[in-house]
Amino acid sequence: MTHASFFLFLGQSACYRKACHHANCRNFDRKRWCLLVLFYMQNVMTQTYELEDEARTLQLGAELASLVKPGDVIALHGGLGAGKTTFSRGLICALVPVVEDVPSPTYTLVQAYDGPEFPVWHFDLYRLESPDEMDEIGWDETQDGVALIEWPDKAGSRLPAWRLDIVFDFEGEHRRVTLEPHGEDWQKRCDEFRF
Ligand SMILES: Nc1ncnc2c1ncn2[C@@H]1O[C@H](COP(=O)(O)OP(=O)(O)OP(=O)(O)O)[C@@H](O)[C@H]1O
Ligand SMILES: [Mg+2]
Repeated sequence: MTHASFFLFLGQSACYRKACHHANCRNFDRKRWCLLVLFYMQNVMTQTYELEDEARTLQLGAELASLVKPGDVIALHGGLGAGKTTFSRGLICALVPVVEDVPSPTYTLVQAYDGPEFPVWHFDLYRLESPDEMDEIGWDETQDGVALIEWPDKAGSRLPAWRLDIVFDFEGEHRRVTLEPHGEDWQKRCDEFRF
């Protein structure tokens, strides 16, 4: 990262925090200004990529694997068939080279992988009835590893605020993906990432 982009990043972070703080205030003009700043910062800090085929989705997963570290949570948003499992497959195969198959955890709800440096947990919460069931499927045991979560909204408040959201959308026959980092650590890592 260059010095200029480092100071730009610091400025953006400070501005974003202040805007978050003031967005709840009662003064209408100030509130409107803060919401505008928030909207701008949100767009500056996200990255969107077109994924023209399955191979490209796998490749994005594989390349993002270089960013992750133990304790990370990556929430994969998007409708049925949007590409969440394909992305996870790319990321898991890069982190756990000996793995032969990455099945969708649609019925098991979670699949664990023993990586050489840390475990990787792949959740599919589509069939979760309530966030309380997160305890039963071992959510508390995942802190030492990386958690990839399909249908993350089902986890409710169990989902940590500081995480990477990845949003998959349909774009004709292709897919469009947006990276939305939450928290300074993820923002910094995504700022350095290009695909
Ligand atoms: N960029 C892409 N362009 C076109 N097709 C893709 C792309 N990425 C993945 N696919 C295809 O989309 C289909 C569904 O992918 P995948 O199973 O990953 O979706 P999902 O989001 O996990 O679905 P679910 O919500 O059912 O778990 C697969 O056939 C996959 O090959
Ligand atoms: Mg899936």
